[in-house]
Amino acid sequence: MSNSYQINSKEEYDLAYKKSIENPEAFWSDVADNFHWHKKWDQVLHWDFVSPKIEWFKGGKLNITENCLDRWVKSQPDAAAIIWEANDPNEESRTLTYKELHFKVSQFANVLKNNGARKGDRICIYMPMVPELTIAILACARIGCIHSVVFGGFSAQSISDRIQDAQCNIVITADGAFRGNKSIPLKSIIDEALITCPSVKKVIVLTRTSIPVSMLNGRDVWWEEEIKQVENKGNPECIAESMDAEDMLFILYTSGSTGKPKGVVHTCGGYMVWTNYTFVNVFQYQKSQIHFCTADIGWITGHSYIIYGPLSAGATSLMFEGIPTWPDSGRFWDIIEKHKVDILYTAPTAIRSLMGFGLDPIKEKNLSSLKILGTVGEPINEEAWHWYNENIGKKNCPIVDTWWQTETGGILISNIAGITKSKPTFATLPLPGIQPIIVDENGNELVGNNVSGNLCIKFPWPGILRTTYGDHERCRTAYFSTYKNLYFTGDGCLRDAEGDYRITGRVDDVLNVSGHRIGTAEVENAINMHSGVVESAIVGYPHDIKGQGIYAFVIFNGIHTDEAHTRKDICITVSKIIGAIAKPDKIQFVSGLPKTRSGKIMRRILRKIAEGETTNLGDTTTLLDPAVVEEIKLNRL
Ligand code: PRX
Repeated sequence: MSNSYQINSKEEYDLAYKKSIENPEAFWSDVADNFHWHKKWDQVLHWDFVSPKIEWFKGGKLNITENCLDRWVKSQPDAAAIIWEANDPNEESRTLTYKELHFKVSQFANVLKNNGARKGDRICIYMPMVPELTIAILACARIGCIHSVVFGGFSAQSISDRIQDAQCNIVITADGAFRGNKSIPLKSIIDEALITCPSVKKVIVLTRTSIPVSMLNGRDVWWEEEIKQVENKGNPECIAESMDAEDMLFILYTSGSTGKPKGVVHTCGGYMVWTNYTFVNVFQYQKSQIHFCTADIGWITGHSYIIYGPLSAGATSLMFEGIPTWPDSGRFWDIIEKHKVDILYTAPTAIRSLMGFGLDPIKEKNLSSLKILGTVGEPINEEAWHWYNENIGKKNCPIVDTWWQTETGGILISNIAGITKSKPTFATLPLPGIQPIIVDENGNELVGNNVSGNLCIKFPWPGILRTTYGDHERCRTAYFSTYKNLYFTGDGCLRDAEGDYRITGRVDDVLNVSGHRIGTAEVENAINMHSGVVESAIVGYPHDIKGQGIYAFVIFNGIHTDEAHTRKDICITVSKIIGAIAKPDKIQFVSGLPKTRSGKIMRRILRKIAEGETTNLGDTTTLLDPAVVEEIKLNRL
């Protein structure tokens, strides 16, 4: 790639950063000029962080899929857009060129139309990591439908909540999904979810595992049969809907500190520009390179750096269906060798888990194609960073530590591969357009270096969330009300003597378990659904592989003859309500919880106990019943 906005040196980074701060509108207008628009925007940026109201490229008309597909079909039709590696190494991998992907997206967009999809409809996608997932997402975007992808590990209840919140009318799923040596019955989970979702009129089902499924007459149709109908009609062309830059592109649900997950909304123009700009620059993508992002498309990392960032840059994106440890813990390294991967983008939790298998699985694997490594999702510890650098990068590959969030659309703070310096455990510097500030509890800006506090951003960038679906007030209170005129990230952070940023983790009641955000309130609500549970409190504790583990303190008054059995029951309840990813790692039964006189659970104390700190618990004099703390300490797991 040699876009006019590709940063090629530290000087260019400094210059771009300076320009982006001094004149953001001119800066982003220049970047946006590199895309295909049906009509140019009327105004580059309109914003206030009070309402909040944020508009980028308003009045501009475009379709993101033309930028991800059509323009590459013209210039490089036979270049690989997607390389897909199956769960089972014995199954053949698939490559879709830009021409083929364009064809299939158009075809499936017509399937959606035949099934009643109209511009503005919300479509829920619950699928395995197969190319058809990418096809389904892009087909929605092609016709102006808003996709809401739900990660394949979520339960029927979680899917139902998300479908109801967005009032989806179509669901796209598969019979099942392969994950390691397991198969997950996606369609039957959807069937259960849909009992409480009257808005859904059609379910389109892809065949993947060929397990028997029940197909409801009039509602459920097979993907393959619908495609045949489109084929029979001849022309698969599907003209891309002309969207306003500020029309919604997708909703992605994410956990917060309170209540149910929020539907984070991203729009067409700004999100496209941001994911593309950050992809091209942070990873220093060069034409024909193969980019392997190991995330699931059910999370924002997959949306931005498997699909929209790479495809809008004409890149080759490798999509992997399986898990890093099956059939053995050398699976990632085999994939890298087989497909000659240039860029590997993964999570610290995966690195830590693979470190645990020692160096044998890497021996004799040819990783020499690798040029750039990346991490995302959680703070990376020093040991994992060095292991990644030495054993995977062979000290030859810059590591980018990319900090960002579902709400930010793409990377905000990261070094630029090979161009700005990397520093273990530091995300380092803000990208052009990003103005981070660190504030204390009262919102006072901490200026200068060697400070730590809460991380906020004071100016919008094109990829910032616009709202939370159906509840703008929630967006305001969650992100724009803690500190006046600032976007509050929920993360703690320090800026060291050299001005580099290090993210230290969440400062709210959100856990980061294996790089996945989990709200403590959500897990508590799920545990409390168990008929024997009176009350519960969740905190995080340091976990060698997951980063944070889930520690549950539970008051139980049901009859439990066997504590181990009750623990399993509680885990099953959590899996049913949220999904297996939210299962507690430890459950301690307690007779009471440390509460203030006003009834508030003092999590600070529980957090310390869970972390193994038993002497220095801070002030406990305000507790209603200090004795309960002694009991909890004594029985700590
Ligand atoms: O706490 C930060 C952590 O992950 C949170 C965002 O989670 P989510 O919206 O699920 O998106 C994850 C993928 C972008 C952040 O608030 N986080 C993400 N990246 C890093 C990180 N913490 C430290 N270092 C990172 N590089």
